[in-house]
Amino acid sequence: MPTETCRQYQLQRNGDAPAVLTRVDAPVRQPGTHEVLVRVHAVSLNRRDAYVKLGQYPGPKPATLVPLSDGAGEVVATGAGVTRVRTGDRVAAIFFPQWLEGRPRPEYMGSALGGGVDGMLSQYVTLNENAWVKLPEYLSWEEAATLPCAGVTAWNGLMTRGRTRPGDYVLLLGTGGVSILGLQLARALDARPIITSSSDEKLERARKLGAAATVNCRTTLDWDQAVRAATGGIGVQQALEVGGKDTLPRTLASLGAGGHVALIGGLSSFGGEIPAGVLMGSNATASGIYVGSRADFEALLGFLEKHPVRPVIDRVFAFDDAAAAYDYLDSGNLFGKVVIRL
Ligand SMILES: NC(=O)c1ccc[n+]([C@@H]2O[C@H](COP(=O)([O-])OP(=O)(O)OC[C@H]3O[C@@H](n4cnc5c(N)ncnc54)[C@H](OP(=O)(O)O)[C@@H]3O)[C@@H](O)[C@H]2O)c1
Repeated sequence: MPTETCRQYQLQRNGDAPAVLTRVDAPVRQPGTHEVLVRVHAVSLNRRDAYVKLGQYPGPKPATLVPLSDGAGEVVATGAGVTRVRTGDRVAAIFFPQWLEGRPRPEYMGSALGGGVDGMLSQYVTLNENAWVKLPEYLSWEEAATLPCAGVTAWNGLMTRGRTRPGDYVLLLGTGGVSILGLQLARALDARPIITSSSDEKLERARKLGAAATVNCRTTLDWDQAVRAATGGIGVQQALEVGGKDTLPRTLASLGAGGHVALIGGLSSFGGEIPAGVLMGSNATASGIYVGSRADFEALLGFLEKHPVRPVIDRVFAFDDAAAAYDYLDSGNLFGKVVIRL
């Protein structure tokens, strides 16, 4: 038995008020049959985790919840019957522990870690063996912790649904977690990322990562025209739509014939209209993405084995500074991912 208690954070909620992030010493649950105990070394934050804390995320709102979906660590003990992993394996948890492959089912959605059930902001986490995937050796704990939500979402938008091909123009909005991972994956796919940002300094960083074109969406309000111009007038073949209601019209206006838009986010607010006639007239497709399955995560990891992308981590916070990591996410100053080391 590695340890009996561990350091953990809980979101403690009272009614509809925002939850309070509270540090506790929690019992370590020893693995039962088909369960795996992992010493978590790093976790990452997603915009969703801010919504969960505020009580603005759909689904159940437990009075006490271990937050965050995304974490990576080392297997330290296995229960009877475990065959998928061994002690010492480097693993990450999957976003929906019940969605292993194929189409999602409504009942899987409630299993999202750090949403309706306890997540990863804990030094030790025990989950069914099915909920873990093995990591490529080259990824650090911090890098691996960025992948389960933002990485799988970007991958599914680009590949599972988008089928991005070399040379495709790929539109990315803003320089947050999904978009920067999308940029890095697009480059690894030999596609041509075009990225918007409200900051010239962030656009300069994006160019260094391989953006083929950049547009400041604060100073260029009709940024869709600039995006289209950057493609020589044909429009992009892929778009990862993370902005939502306010950006969707311009994202659709940026889309070329036969293009694909992955409907992912709601940074401006969730929603927006998809004009059927426009899609039909241009043979375009739109798909809704909600992270993905374990098989999707494993497809991403298989790709990374051959194309060793190193996810961009903006800042790493110490375990004791978890509240500051949340504040930093809220500030919007980030470029890429925000990580906590445990
Ligand atoms: N459907 C899914 O499965 C899924 C998975 C992951 C994320 N999401 C959603 O996707 C969105 C992005 O998530 P994330 O974790 O990547 O966010 P994030 O890391 O917090 O991204 C923040 C960045 O986005 C840009 N931004 C902020 N407000 C914006 C707005 N109104 N319009 C356009 N860009 C804006 C800013 O970039 P600049 O400073 O460069 O301007 C900001 O730094 C969120 O709504 C999240 O809930 C959905």
